[in-house]
This record gives sequence, C-alpha cells and structure tokens, in this order.
Amino acid sequence: MKMDIAVTVNGRRYQASIEPRLLLSDFLRDIIGLTGTHVGCEHGVCGACTILVNGDSVRSCLTLAVRADGMDVVTVEGLGTPDQLNVLQSEFREKHGLQCGFCTPGMLMTGMDLLNKYPLASDDEIREGLSGNLCRCTGYQNIVAAIRSAVALRNGSTP
Ligand code: FES
Ligand code: FES
Repeated sequence: MKMDIAVTVNGRRYQASIEPRLLLSDFLRDIIGLTGTHVGCEHGVCGACTILVNGDSVRSCLTLAVRADGMDVVTVEGLGTPDQLNVLQSEFREKHGLQCGFCTPGMLMTGMDLLNKYPLASDDEIREGLSGNLCRCTGYQNIVAAIRSAVALRNGSTP
C-alpha cells in the first residue's frame, strides 16, 4: 500500500506516493535527492539527521515521511548557498566550527532552532541546546564559539 503526500521542502512543494514505513530522512535523501541531511545512528542518538519541521528541530531518522504531509520542512540546503551563507553557516566557517563535517548539517539545523527561539545568554545554555548532537571531531569548543558569535550578530552586537 502506498500513500500520497505533499510536503514543502526549502520552499518547494513535492508530491510523492510512498510506503507508510518510509523514514523522512530516506524521503529527503533518496526520493527528492537532498543528501545534505546526514544519517548516522538511525536511532535518534547522534542528531546528524536534524531538520526543521514547521519551525521545530526534528530527528528525521525517527519521523515517518507520511507525518510530514502538509508540513513545511527546512533542510541544510535551505539555509544558504555557497556564495551566500546564512549567518550561522558563516560563523561556523569563521570560527572553524567543523572538521570532517559529518555532524555539521544537524548542528546547523539545531543551531537555527536555538537561535530562533532562545536567548542563548551563556555558553552553558548553548551547550545544553546542543546536547542532542554528537561531534566526534571538534571537542565542541568552536561550535559553541560559532553559535555564540551568531547570537551576538542576532542581538545586534559585535561578536
Ligand atoms: Fe538520526 Fe542519528 S541519524 S539521530
Ligand atoms: Fe566531524 Fe563533527 S566535525 S563529527
């Protein structure tokens, strides 16, 4: 049995007929070809697959694609372009917030959720917000620094 869904991803509407068991991460990567969303653990542990659904960060490896029917999804491809990075991407580059880059899409999408919703007045608050995203390379220092810098820009002060 297949089900029809219509979902908006990065401002573009997609329609597809899919199996109800298809994961949203697999829909994004295999059906519509947006491979920027990474899949690590597939168990909701690492955070690499994090995307925004209706403005909230969601683990796409734990979400059925049919649940996204009628929803508005943003993936890392929707943040900026190589020529015009969004503020968080730009600060990740500036502060060396990545090494291998595997965790980076999830870090960015979680970071956008945090930036959009919370004051992030301290590094502790930033670290708590990132606690569901694992990075095996950076030791997190520069990721926190990048988000701290983006918070300053959001708040209109100098990073
Ligand atoms: Fe989804 Fe690890 S791949 S949380
Ligand atoms: Fe390699 Fe985070 S930069 S896992």
